[in-house]
Amino acid sequence: MAKKILVTGGTGYIGSHTVVELQQAGYEAIIVDDLSNSNADVIEGIVKITGIRPIFEKLDCVDFSALKDLFEKYSGIDGIIHFAASKAVGESVQKPLMYYRNNLVSLINLLELMPEFNVKGIVFSSSCTVYGEPNNNPIDENAPIKPAESPYGNTKQINEEVIQDFIHSGASIKSIILRYFNPIGSHPSAEIGELPIGVPQNLVPYITQTGIGIREQLSVFGNDYNTPDGSCIRDFINVVDLAKAHVVAIERMLTDKSDEKVEIFNLGTGKGVSVLELINVFEKVSGKPLNYKIVGRREGDIEQIWANPDKANNVLGWTAKETIEDTVASAWKWQQRLRNRGVM
Ligand code: UD1
Repeated sequence: MAKKILVTGGTGYIGSHTVVELQQAGYEAIIVDDLSNSNADVIEGIVKITGIRPIFEKLDCVDFSALKDLFEKYSGIDGIIHFAASKAVGESVQKPLMYYRNNLVSLINLLELMPEFNVKGIVFSSSCTVYGEPNNNPIDENAPIKPAESPYGNTKQINEEVIQDFIHSGASIKSIILRYFNPIGSHPSAEIGELPIGVPQNLVPYITQTGIGIREQLSVFGNDYNTPDGSCIRDFINVVDLAKAHVVAIERMLTDKSDEKVEIFNLGTGKGVSVLELINVFEKVSGKPLNYKIVGRREGDIEQIWANPDKANNVLGWTAKETIEDTVASAWKWQQRLRNRGVM
């Protein structure tokens, strides 16, 4: 019988790509999402790709009794992948209590219900933001955690600790914490992708929206950093590659491939690409020049960070495979698909 995986935030950007990979690997995905930052139409995109309709329940994980009812309704959930969270850095500074409530209470509710319903493990979406500005790159999992720059970043740090403390207390669950670098791109079918609500805060949706004419001009936040071309450097990881790592992580937990009760992995390519280099890649794959201008630095930005993904490569047996060109091309294809569908 297919193992049942609860995917919180499963209609979101990384969540939807992960549901596709789970289904294609033979798992049954149960999506819960409150649709606060995504749309139920995403389910149709998933069905088009896999031919399988995942179970979907509109539910806010902050609501303990609704979550408990869900575990009762769908008995036998084997594992959880927990994506559901608020994720806008700037908004978290404006609305810290909302961020702490949404992101902390959701995880606590899930953890509390796991032993009662015999759920074996939880994969948690964390972020390279926990490293702050690295002393050295590439950065590995043993690098020090730096004080968070925003309430959003703080929720990731605290949630990592909540998981560790709960397991340390003797709770009969396992966890794999995945620290994502910068996920970009879309499924190659362009049936699902990133759909930011309002003005995009992240680089790639801003680039593709500028390319297609929704935004007039991209602002590049700073060219006076201590990097070869002066712009910031990130480790841009293809979202499908990232999704596949979740399937490997779930498999590892559910089949007890490791005795460790908590494991942490960086998910990145191991290569740093600058903002200006990424713009070049976009111009190359789209065949059109991008209208951009250099403006001042954005507050709170890290100068440069890229992953040492050796642990994920060697221990998980997962490696990021897609090229940056194919990845940016997939984001562009998705943007064009949205236009053809009249979405934006
Ligand atoms: C941020 C968060 C990270 C979070 C991620 C969510 C910080 C330090 N990090 O990553 O924790 O998980 O968002 O997706 O806040 N840029 C421009 N112009 C733009 C937009 C971005 O030049 O219009 C530049 C930024 O200055 C940065 C790079 O592009 O150097 C990447 O920015 P972005 O996509 O927002 O991701 P991060 O800030 O790296």
